[in-house]
Parts: sequence; C-alpha cells; structure tokens
Amino acid sequence: MNEANDHDALFDLLAIDEADRADCVRVLQRSDDAEQVALVTAALLRSFGSFNQIRVDEPTQEPLVWLKAFFELTPHVVEWSRRHDIPERVTRDTLADVGRHLAISRRVTGEFGLQTWRWLTYHFTVRIFALGRLQFALERAAPTSEVDGVIKAGDWVLAVHIPESGPLLPDLVDESLASAKVFFAEHFPQHPVSVVTCDSWMLDPFLLDRVAPESNVGSFVRRFTPIGHSSDGHTDALYFVFRTRDLSRLDELPRDTSLQRAVLERFELGETWQVAWGYLRL
Ligand SMILES: CC(C)(COP(=O)(O)OP(=O)(O)OC[C@H]1O[C@@H](n2cnc3c(N)ncnc32)[C@H](O)[C@@H]1OP(=O)(O)O)[C@@H](O)C(=O)NCCC(=O)NCCS
Repeated sequence: MNEANDHDALFDLLAIDEADRADCVRVLQRSDDAEQVALVTAALLRSFGSFNQIRVDEPTQEPLVWLKAFFELTPHVVEWSRRHDIPERVTRDTLADVGRHLAISRRVTGEFGLQTWRWLTYHFTVRIFALGRLQFALERAAPTSEVDGVIKAGDWVLAVHIPESGPLLPDLVDESLASAKVFFAEHFPQHPVSVVTCDSWMLDPFLLDRVAPESNVGSFVRRFTPIGHSSDGHTDALYFVFRTRDLSRLDELPRDTSLQRAVLERFELGETWQVAWGYLRL
C-alpha cells in the first residue's frame, strides 16, 4: 500500500473529516518533532492498559505532538483490542473521538488543532470504550466518590462520558448501560464493576430545575444518585453548550433553548457552575 492509502486508512479509522486531513498529513510528515513525539509515545505506553493506575506524564503540552503520537499508537491500540477480543465496531466508535475532537477544535478556533488532546490520552491508553451512545472509562474510584455501602475508594467503577453525538435518547442510554454491563464482565472480569459514576456540569442541580422533566437531559440526570461531592466547573457548562470559554461573550450568546438559558442564567446570578458527582448501579 502506498503512503496516501495508509493515511486514508488511518484517517478513516479515526473518523477524521476531509477538512482536517491535509493538516493531518502535514503533522505526519513533520520531521523536527521526532524527539518530542517519542517522549509522548513512551509516556502513553507506560500507562497503556493500566486503566490510569499509572498516570500519563506530560513531557510537552504541544497538541500536535500529542496528535502525532496518537497516530503512531493507533496500530498498537487496534492490535491490543483484537487481542482482548474487543469488537471492531467498539474500537472504531471509540477511536472516532479523534475526528470528532479535531472537528470541535476547528469549530471553536476556526483553525486546525486539537485543544482537547488530554482527553484523548484516555483512548490511547485503552482506558475508555464507546458502547453505543455513551463512553465508559474503567477506573478506580477516588476517595471523593465514596458512598457508604456502595462505593469504596479503590473500587473499580465505570466513569460515564457523553460525547457530542446527537440526542441523549433514554432508549439509547438504556442500551449503552446494558451493553456496558455485559462488555466489561466479558472483557475485564479481573476488574469487576457494578457502579457507573458521572461527574459533569450536567449533574449540577441548578440544571435539573431549568430543563423540562421529560427532556432527555432531565431523564439522564435523574438516573444518578448524588454522591454529595462537587467542584467548581467555572466555564465547563459554557464550553459544552456553546463551545466557548470566553466569559466576555456572554451577552452575544443565543438564548433559544432552555439549556442555553440555564447556563447563562447561572453566570448572571454571579454563581459558579458545579461539576457534580453521581452514581447509578449497573
Ligand atoms: C447535552 C446533550 C447530550 C443534550 O442532548 P439532547 O438529547 O438534545 O437534549 P434534550 O432533548 O434533553 O434538550 C433539552 C433542551 O436543551 C436544548 N439543547 C440540547 N442540546 C443543546 C445544545 N448542544 N445546545 C443548545 N441547546 C441544546 C434542547 O434544544 C432543549 O431545549 P428546549 O427545552 O428549549 O426545547 C447534547 O447537547 C450533547 O451531546 N452535548 C455535548 C456533550 C456534553 O455536554 N457532554 C458532557 C460532558 S461532561
């Protein structure tokens, strides 16, 4: 296969938009970043398969160095996934986050880049899996998520994440949760999980009071029992709803939907959005 075909196969697997492909080829063809890329690749490999028990070092914070390391590690992720009998569909859906996040970066900044490279370290240390509408990261519970009789620090749990991929329909959520129960028991029986945790701006109770009870968001949030721990989310809600963290733009942002109005109202009240924690039993 020639180089262009190799690139196409890689970019297809990572679901990279046409608009980003020429820039990705330029990233691959750079030769002055080899040392940095090698350091990042080594950092990812140290954590690879440890489900974040070994944290990923950050030898650099240069997004495109991380992107190139992700490209280099893609065959390794595919091979590891095959060895663990992960269905190809799951691997593809999981890796599609690369294209999704390049597209989000372009939408936010107007140019090629990867603002969210740190998020993608999950994928390239094989600690996250896309199962239908939701993504699940296998990890040990932090002391802040302890719940009497349910979660002890150090227990294996599934942290759920919600990619920007359309409506959060309750049926799709049901299916994802049901898949997660089967998938993790089958592939990682050595790390038994019975609880899904969520830490998100969406779990801030401020939101639940301001979206329709029957909305997809409302129904999703109500599945979780509050853990009673939260931290300042600052611009998280703003970023996920409006894809900006620029507080000077609040006046010009649209107020067409209940979600948009809720996010803006909180800033106007001078309050801080919370990233709140919750859990549900699988
Ligand atoms: C949050 C999200 C899952 C909502 O999905 P959804 O199924 O479309 O939401 P709902 O149907 O329950 O919508 C409830 C209200 O929010 C509005 N809304 C939903 N997503 C919106 C968005 N991205 N921007 C603005 N408004 C939005 C709907 O129009 C509706 O408004 P209305 O009450 O005025 O009619 C979806 O927007 C998304 O994928 N967001 C990005 C991912 C994310 O935030 N992840 C969490 C990271 S911690």
